[in-house]
Formats: sequence, structure tokens, C-alpha cells
Amino acid sequence: MLVVENVSKTYGDIVALKPVSFRADEGELVFVTGKSGSGKTTLLRLILREILPTTGKIVFKDADILTLKGSALSSYRQKIGVVFQDFKVLPEKTLRENVEIALAVVGVPSSEWQKRVDDVLKMVGLLERSELFPVQLSGGELQRVSLARALVVNPDMILADEPTGNLDWQTSDEIMNLFIKIVQSGKLVIMATHNLSLVEKCTKMEKDKLKTKVVSLEE
Ligand SMILES: Nc1ncnc2c1ncn2[C@@H]1O[C@H](COP(=O)(O)OP(=O)(O)O)[C@@H](O)[C@H]1O
Ligand SMILES: [Mg+2]
Repeated sequence: MLVVENVSKTYGDIVALKPVSFRADEGELVFVTGKSGSGKTTLLRLILREILPTTGKIVFKDADILTLKGSALSSYRQKIGVVFQDFKVLPEKTLRENVEIALAVVGVPSSEWQKRVDDVLKMVGLLERSELFPVQLSGGELQRVSLARALVVNPDMILADEPTGNLDWQTSDEIMNLFIKIVQSGKLVIMATHNLSLVEKCTKMEKDKLKTKVVSLEE
């Protein structure tokens, strides 16, 4: 489904990402690990096609994403859910509105919003709180909102940049369990993290039919 081949990124003399190659399929959890500055965020931005690589090739569902333009590029991006370390929820909007925005962006008719938002908020366990504002929630809950927002468009792939980076270990575990559920429902999740104990825990779950892969970036 996703092929990353010899992809690197430099800015002048700065090497942001050394050449990296991997393949990933639906129903797989791919960890991108490496120290701070090794290029994890850069790799996710390359896959999202926010930036272009200096070398290499990225193919998603048999399409070369580096040559996408205009509406083809927008529709590629719209099929990707993105989750950040700092949640990026809008403080002046309710949880429900925060999730609805994702549907508005991709042009889903508003008549469908209620059911779709209810479904994802239920999945992340926040349906009863849908009319609250972000300031009324904990960090773990805010991350669940951002996961709901990523999921509501029914993405092919989810890119998560240190999604547990601002959370305590117990809350991280809860968020990871949600990600695992999402992977097991057949999505491809690519997660940047420097939390190796979290990676180890998940890669040991292979017995429980969780398909994982680790892409380790060198500095
Ligand atoms: N737009 C940019 N211009 C110059 N250097 C950049 C740019 N983006 C990232 N870098 C550099 O590339 C390296 C990798 O960054 P990043 O991908 O954010 O690493 P990580 O997410 O693993 O911490 C860092 O040294 C960073 O300063
Ligand atoms: Mg980063």
C-alpha cells in the first residue's frame, strides 16, 4: 500500500532525513523511531506530501505521490488522518465542532455529520462529553478528540507524530490501545515516537495478531 524508497531530505547543508526505505500495508502499525532531530517529523511531512524529498520515491496505492498536483493532491491528503503531540484542537469550539470541521473540510454534507461524529466520539469514549470545550478536558481526552477528528473522514492511513509525547504513561497506554484498535480494524498507522518501551510493548503483541514494523532512523 505504501512504499518509501530511498527517501531523504536535506535543506542546504542540513540533513533532515537520511535515506530511508520501507513498505507498509493496511492493518499495520509502523513505528518511526530515532532520537530528536533524526527526521521523524520530516518523514511524516514527506508522506503527507507537505514537502518534497531530495531523493527517493513515495508510492501510495500504486500512485506516485510526488507527482500529484491540484485536486489529486488534495484528495490524497484528505484520505490521511493526522494526529499531533500537541493535539491541535480549537479552543473556542466544542468537541463535536472540532470533529465536524474535518468533515466540512472534505465536503461531507452536513446532514451526515451527526451520525459520523457520534460514531467516532463513541469509539474514543467521549460521546457524553461532545458539547464540552477543550479547556474542560484532560490531555488524554484531548488526544482522543484529535484521534476522533482524524478518523471521522474514514482515512486510508493515519500519521501520528509523537501522539503520546505529552501524556503520562497510563494515559499513553489508553491512547495506544485506541490506536491498536484502529490498526486492527484494518487501517495503516504510521507513528513517530522516541518512546522505545511503548514500541517494545506493541511489537511483543504480534501473537495477538497486531502487525507491527519498526523503521529506525539514524542520526
Ligand atoms: N524546514 C527546515 N529547514 C531546515 N532544517 C530543518 C527543517 N525541518 C527540519 N529541519 C532539521 O532537520 C532535522 C530533523 O528534524 P525533525 O524531522 O523535526 O526531527 P525529529 O522529528 O526526529 O525530532 C533537525 O535537525 C531539524 O532542525
Ligand atoms: Mg518531531
